[in-house]
Amino acid sequence: MNYEECIEKVLVSEEEIKAAVERLAGEIERDFKDSDKKLLLIGILKGSVVFMADILKKLNIPLETDYIKVSSYGGTSSSGHIKLKAEPDREDLSEYNVVVIEDILDTGNTLSWLLGHLKDDLNATTVKLCVLFNKPSRRKKEVKIDYEGFEIPDEFIVGYGLDYNELYRNLPYVGVLKPFVYEG
Ligand code: PRP
Repeated sequence: MNYEECIEKVLVSEEEIKAAVERLAGEIERDFKDSDKKLLLIGILKGSVVFMADILKKLNIPLETDYIKVSSYGGTSSSGHIKLKAEPDREDLSEYNVVVIEDILDTGNTLSWLLGHLKDDLNATTVKLCVLFNKPSRRKKEVKIDYEGFEIPDEFIVGYGLDYNELYRNLPYVGVLKPFVYEG
């Protein structure tokens, strides 16, 4: 079976994503270009890899990168259980303004915990959040988004880094999965 047979519709096209990435990079650049602190972009593995790579290439200011691995999902619903699988390389972030790069904000369980961890445990000077896809209808914990790509409905989306059972991350667009795929 190929990907196309599993996708019901394209929700956000490659062109729309490209435009949003350029807009978000412009907003981040504007906010940090004159800061006297170092800028650190932290990507949340694995979903944000594609978004992170694209936004990095659009930022024309000095910055460093790091990655964190957190897991909260099982299948198509968020379990609310946070597992930290990898810390950033840097143990102290007091020299940095941090921007967290995340593919999707769903229940908010992952990000509400993670933003607190970066600020309170790792001492980041500032922590801002850049999210490409926001599903507000699913929110359980309040999370402030500083840079937002798209507000999306409560559908199970895949592509542009987002997976279902580890597949579809390499689609260049975001599509809605046909129910038969996850209903078996
Ligand atoms: C997804 C997504 C976010 C989180 C959002 O990651 O990339 O990190 O879930 O969900 P929440 O707002 O309900 O906490 P996932 O755990 O699926 O891991 P992955 O990025 O490796 O696919």
